[in-house]
Amino acid sequence: MCYNSESIMNTSYLTPEILISSKQLDAIVSRVADEILADCRSDTELLLLCVLKGAAMFTSDLAKKLDAPVMLDYIKVSSYGSGTKSSGVVRLEYEPAIRDFAGKRVVVVEDIVDTGRTARFLCEYLTDCGAADIKFCTLLDKPSRREVEFVPDYVGMTIPNKFVVGYGLDYNEHYRGLPYVGLLNN
Ligand code: IMP
Ligand code: MG
Repeated sequence: MCYNSESIMNTSYLTPEILISSKQLDAIVSRVADEILADCRSDTELLLLCVLKGAAMFTSDLAKKLDAPVMLDYIKVSSYGSGTKSSGVVRLEYEPAIRDFAGKRVVVVEDIVDTGRTARFLCEYLTDCGAADIKFCTLLDKPSRREVEFVPDYVGMTIPNKFVVGYGLDYNEHYRGLPYVGLLNN
């Protein structure tokens, strides 16, 4: 479905400026998949844990590029109230269905690490659930915005302090379907 004129009016829909093209995203996903595979032992199962909703596209593309048996699961947390401001408080909204982490390498797949609060929360939550082998993969990283120390294991691209949308990332639920990552209102 297209954005209709009413929703365009209500959200002041703008066409984002392309920051990372679809072709660049494809190359990034291939490179990250290679990095994940290079670190993986053959006796360990790979569980990709997609952080909804923002990482949905990235996770699907990554799963297709990983030349290994992959389990997929989903988790949902929220920290953003509305627009571009984070509330700073991370809440768990949806728990993964897979609870047996023994013998599995859990690769958390995020869209973006900003303050680092969500990433920290997710790693602590998974550790509490008994996951011993956790790696953190993010499509985008904004290290200049960190409020808590966090270094992801796999990073698609480090970006400056700009609000980005597309390829899963949203502004008030809009723009997620764009095939590229774009800059909004910059
Ligand atoms: P953090 O807890 O501050 O690191 O925020 C992480 C979450 O905030 C991400 O998973 C995104 O959902 C959201 N977020 C942070 N920066 C952006 C952005 O530039 N565009 C869209 N969402 C963002
Ligand atoms: Mg996210």
